[in-house]
Amino acid sequence: MSKEKSDVEIKAFVDELMGKMTLEEKAGQITQYFNFLRVPEESRRVEAELAAGRCGSMLFVPNAEDINRLQKIAVEQTRLGIPLLFGYDVIHGLRTAMPVPIAVAASWDPDLAEEGQSVAAAEARAVGLHWSFAPMVDIARDPRWGRIIEGAGEDPYLGAAMAAAQVRGFQGAYVGAPDHVISGPKHFAGYGAAIGGRDYDEANISDNELWNVYLPPFKAAIDAGAYNIMSAYMGLNGVPATGNKWLLSDVLRDTWGFKGFVVTDAGAAYDLCTHGYAADVADAGLRALDAGVDLEMAPPFGESAYRTLPQSVAEGKVSEADIDIAVRRVLEAKVRMGLFDNPYVDVKEAEAVLTRPAHRDTARRAAERSAVLLRNDGDLLPLPRDLASIAVIGPLADSARDTVGPWIFEQDDSETVTVLAGIRAKVGAATRVDYAQGVTLPGRYFKSIFENDEHKQTPRPIVDDTIGIQRAVDLARKSDVVVLVLGEGQVQIGEHASRSSLDLPGRQQELMDAVIGTGKPVVLLLMAARPLDLKGSYTRALMGIWYPGSQGGAAVANLLFGDAVPGGKLPYTWPRNIGQIPLHYAQLKSHKPDWAAERYWNEPNSPLYPFGYGLSYARFSYANLRLSASAIAPGATLTVSVDVTNSGKVGADEVVQLYIHQRHGSSARPVRLLKGFRRIPLAAGETQTVSFPLGPDELSHWSAASRSVVLDATTFDVFVGGDSTADLTASFDVRKG
Ligand code: BGC
Repeated sequence: MSKEKSDVEIKAFVDELMGKMTLEEKAGQITQYFNFLRVPEESRRVEAELAAGRCGSMLFVPNAEDINRLQKIAVEQTRLGIPLLFGYDVIHGLRTAMPVPIAVAASWDPDLAEEGQSVAAAEARAVGLHWSFAPMVDIARDPRWGRIIEGAGEDPYLGAAMAAAQVRGFQGAYVGAPDHVISGPKHFAGYGAAIGGRDYDEANISDNELWNVYLPPFKAAIDAGAYNIMSAYMGLNGVPATGNKWLLSDVLRDTWGFKGFVVTDAGAAYDLCTHGYAADVADAGLRALDAGVDLEMAPPFGESAYRTLPQSVAEGKVSEADIDIAVRRVLEAKVRMGLFDNPYVDVKEAEAVLTRPAHRDTARRAAERSAVLLRNDGDLLPLPRDLASIAVIGPLADSARDTVGPWIFEQDDSETVTVLAGIRAKVGAATRVDYAQGVTLPGRYFKSIFENDEHKQTPRPIVDDTIGIQRAVDLARKSDVVVLVLGEGQVQIGEHASRSSLDLPGRQQELMDAVIGTGKPVVLLLMAARPLDLKGSYTRALMGIWYPGSQGGAAVANLLFGDAVPGGKLPYTWPRNIGQIPLHYAQLKSHKPDWAAERYWNEPNSPLYPFGYGLSYARFSYANLRLSASAIAPGATLTVSVDVTNSGKVGADEVVQLYIHQRHGSSARPVRLLKGFRRIPLAAGETQTVSFPLGPDELSHWSAASRSVVLDATTFDVFVGGDSTADLTASFDVRKG
């Protein structure tokens, strides 16, 4: 059984090793290369660099055989035999795909997030990976930005809870714990605030928003032990994040005490030139190092910024001691991960871990717990089990690749349960289930990252849209119920997938309207990870199923037929119209607060669905909101309690949410801020009392007036309920003396 190594032991080992290293070998240790195994000529070049001792880490090698093979080159062919650190984007699973991260955030269940990432970590470690470039903890308030899918949405409190939980899941009890990997929260910092929602564009964030909104999830991740941080691509307030010393050193290390290593985003050190910040690649290396970057990820081949460092030492521009700091951090990570004890993995054992049935169970449960029911008029759901016929319609209903979502590269499509397959497996022989694709979804599968990789570029099944829509309508007409599965395909969301429209891609809207026109009861399942504009089209039931992962279809079938009850809640505000963006619940009061709902002349400014919203097959009522004190001293904690009753007919979960509002003080504060939540199971008819603490952590904020964290003596309003419009309210004072 491995155990945590002591700092003294690690230091002694690394001191001795560094004593033997040349400056070139040191620069190699802090350089990480992509290895696209399916692009052989690139792969060969990278492996030659490795054998020459010019590469300390690799990414994008996700299987045990190749990892062992490459590790052998590092151990047996390089002068000092230092093993490679293998990193990968294990964003929501390796072989077993969990629902995408925004989905898990919608479960409002941090324990589930932890469990899901511990499954991902076990699979990753089993194949020889040491480190996941996750979680992404960027706050996203603009759904045009495709990477909204990778985070926890708009809110820093929910975001911090999900960030910490995922770090615990990936890393386990300590860095190097068996079955776990290093967790690398990203992209530090402010990447989600890309102007116009355009991926990679600059972010201009006030200090108020930085400290109160964008940084807290990073801080929570670091407090949870995250041993790596990835610097962001974009310019933050004019200074590229990867060359931003204030961010990577003053905040991260000096203020927060971060002890791990910092990696750039892919090619981001070289990008300091692209940004017009560094003069040339050598300058980029110097400035990234000086800012606090330890490891350079994926430089363009032959343009590694860190490879220029030995020359810069020769020219007296940087000292070897400065380079040693970064080298030491990378080597320490290798020691902690046990690489010098045993750098190899057992291939057979890896396959056993990847196919563990328990992992699939977690994936199914996670998909069930993340679905968000947005409408269910006349209790259309759950569907009765004795239906004669169900029409399953839509281009996403039977698409394995889309069901798992982006950032899953190693899954086997045959292991993925689509919605159609899930429904077919669920119903009895008496129910006929027919399928019509309807329309073709634009785009291919997977991302440009595998551009050269034909194996990954499966074209989509194509239908003639006009004929397809007619077939779908004919099918709907002869069925009892229609389950329509629409949304965005795998490449329409994620990195480099910003959109200037929230419409359903392709002719899906037309398909939907034609099917609705049949008058049959329609359940619309949205496979999407951002709020879409459905143009007011009405279906009796509407449920967000996200990209639900390997077992998505099985989970959806359980939800449709009542073997699972939806309990997820939106982790973002759903606007009525793209023109409202950015729209989030934690706004400041405006000049005319009473007009807040009507600030556009053409339509209300209220959202279509508020943050925190989600229905159930049960009904919940809230009563007896009470506070343990009407006034507290600064620094003290009071307790908020509320009674929650399930007045429905089935057992179900409710996410009880607590919001506060500070009435006045050193800064004007948002009308509401989430400061507590708990997902609780309630049997039909059951009442439970739920309590939340409100103390200094919840009541203080960073104020631009004093440029520090303050806890004002003021009055706070408290709101408790099932979403961010909760109207059960009370108030208390924070009083000095
Ligand atoms: C993304 C990162 C990712 C890296 C490696 C970059 O383009 O921004 O999130 O970890 O690629 O795949």
